Amino acid sequence: MRIAVLGGDGYCGWATALYLSGKNHSVAIIDSLTRREWDKELGAQTLTPIRSLSERVETWQKVSGKTLDVFIGDVTDYDFLYSALKAFQPDAIVHYAEQRSAPYSMINLEHAVFTQVNNVVGTLNILFAMRESLPGCHLVKLGTMGEYGTPNIDIEEGYLEVVHNGRRDVLPYPKQPGSFYHLSKVHDSHNIAFACKNWGLRATDLNQGIVYGTMTDEVAADEALINRFDYDQVFGTVLNRFCAQAAVGYPLTVYGKGGQTRGMLDIRDTVRCIELACLNPAAAGEFRVFNQFTEQFSVLQVAQMVQAAGQKLGLKVTINHLPDPRVEAEEHYYNAKHSRLVDLGLKPHFLSEGLLDSLMNIAIRYRDRVNPVQFEPSVDWRLTSSPLKLGRRATSPVANALRQTPSDGEAEWRQPVSASIAGADDDLTADGRSSTAVTSS
Ligand SMILES: NC(=O)c1ccc[n+]([C@@H]2O[C@H](COP(=O)([O-])OP(=O)(O)OC[C@H]3O[C@@H](n4cnc5c(N)ncnc54)[C@H](O)[C@@H]3O)[C@@H](O)[C@H]2O)c1
Repeated sequence: MRIAVLGGDGYCGWATALYLSGKNHSVAIIDSLTRREWDKELGAQTLTPIRSLSERVETWQKVSGKTLDVFIGDVTDYDFLYSALKAFQPDAIVHYAEQRSAPYSMINLEHAVFTQVNNVVGTLNILFAMRESLPGCHLVKLGTMGEYGTPNIDIEEGYLEVVHNGRRDVLPYPKQPGSFYHLSKVHDSHNIAFACKNWGLRATDLNQGIVYGTMTDEVAADEALINRFDYDQVFGTVLNRFCAQAAVGYPLTVYGKGGQTRGMLDIRDTVRCIELACLNPAAAGEFRVFNQFTEQFSVLQVAQMVQAAGQKLGLKVTINHLPDPRVEAEEHYYNAKHSRLVDLGLKPHFLSEGLLDSLMNIAIRYRDRVNPVQFEPSVDWRLTSSPLKLGRRATSPVANALRQTPSDGEAEWRQPVSASIAGADDDLTADGRSSTAVTSS
């Protein structure tokens, strides 16, 4: 199949692009590289030293003999997106290209607005581009289990049968999102459902749980293919963050009681779920919802597992219960269904001692890159503006984007479209931005 991976330079996207390419699908990466900018804004960096996108793609070509097409640009720029999709003609679009951090969306007004504009406009652009020129294409959109919140009843896969005043219907499952980021995903889901109904598009919304791990077979093939491993309070997901904390002897930061229970999955299952969704597309007009996770754990359970794994490796690991910076239930009922991807053939990798050992070993290997300040939660859900220490930039890229008067730096990296990276001069500057204009073929 021809599969466009939007957000293919990111954590899930990079692993997915390589996995799909390894399975002989033709893959294009569409990404603005903006995530690398957000790291700089926050003064944070991935624990693992990820390479520039051009080095990654060239290395993959050497290792596998396969080419990845690359289009550098912003999905919220309709003309760019339309030309990229029209040039590549995908059978499926995997849409990861969003701002995905709940704390980032809760920093202040500009970050809340930016998150919702980036995510909602990007998804609307995709829907319009599909309607205009790719009506048969299947959208595989990444949502999140956080869209549902933590209701006191079982969570179904997208829809709930309701009997009301003697009448019965199957309705979208109620959403109780817990941040402006999660709200953006709910808005996306509604827009996609509407476009499927109205225009007959086909889409699968994957409500993904929290992803852990960093290695897939493809990523492990060469050091230059290494994937992200975010550990900071804004972008670090819980298990990866705890492993980094254990590796440097920092107490594991459990928020409140730690009874917050969430669905989780190994990144090796993320990539397989995407392939399964692509190979088994939704019907025309169908808006399908799958819950994409394999196990559920409380935050405290995760901390205790990391503590045990660290101790086995001779590390002294303690657990610190901090006041919860988020507004959320610290203990609650949680039972979410997740059988539809298994029905399609997913064979889950459950969280095991072996996986925890290997994650801990990666964290230990790169622990010199940890800045412990990045562990401290400083985004407070109760405030309209958190005193987050931003990085070296005087003005955040978010503020610049909202003013719509790009700074010099942004003018430089907002290139219109690049076509296949093979043969294109796509050197990245030291800070990861595209420095050279490339032409469309
Ligand atoms: N990581 C998780 O645990 C997790 C859990 C549930 C859902 N998800 C969803 O999966 C998706 C990917 O998550 P991730 O962890 O890989 O995130 P990530 O931040 O590592 O990657 C996102 C990528 O999208 C790109 N991007 C963002 N906005 C863009 C835009 N407007 N135009 C072009 N490119 C843009 C970024 O540059 C980045 O490379 C997100 O939509 C997220 O909500 C992730």
